[in-house]
Amino acid sequence: MWTSALLLLCSHLISAGPLHAQCKVDWYFGIRCEDVYEALVSQIKAWRTMSSCTTGGQRCLYKLKSASVHFIEAEHTRPFRRHVDNIHIRLAAFRFFTCCHVSAMSISQTWYAIKDHGTNYCNLYNLMEGSGLTEARGYREVTSDFLCTQRSSANCTIY
Ligand SMILES: *[C@@H]1O[C@H](CO)[C@@H](O)[C@H](O)[C@H]1NC(C)=O
Repeated sequence: MWTSALLLLCSHLISAGPLHAQCKVDWYFGIRCEDVYEALVSQIKAWRTMSSCTTGGQRCLYKLKSASVHFIEAEHTRPFRRHVDNIHIRLAAFRFFTCCHVSAMSISQTWYAIKDHGTNYCNLYNLMEGSGLTEARGYREVTSDFLCTQRSSANCTIY
């Protein structure tokens, strides 16, 4: 039993992608961190209830846990499945405060949630897209399938 579990874990490590379903993304903006912060926090609050998911998708049931200038902690619950993912966002200004670097992570609370259809990526990307930050000046995203489970096959309209 333990042997086969270990084999499963090890083969997954070799086959690429993080062990836990999780996602790490770096975003860069040519706007101030204050503006990025405001946009993200208000989007998390706007998608608090189930009402924004009545036509499907996962753009709802976000919960703001704590927010300060440099850190945002939140949770996302998957509608219907009630599966919870933790979201950590760190904001750091650079180039004399005119630019902002956002490092974001989404991690499934359930350790065996190895395949997530890109949900952890979408947890983060949907906030960026919904708040309009993907259209912000200097927008750039850095991530990969290794940093984000099933990133390349993610369809954030559904997940
Ligand atoms: C994502 O899913 C939506 C809804 O089912 C679909 O309309 C869209 O074509 C899909 N996008 C991609 C890139 O597969």
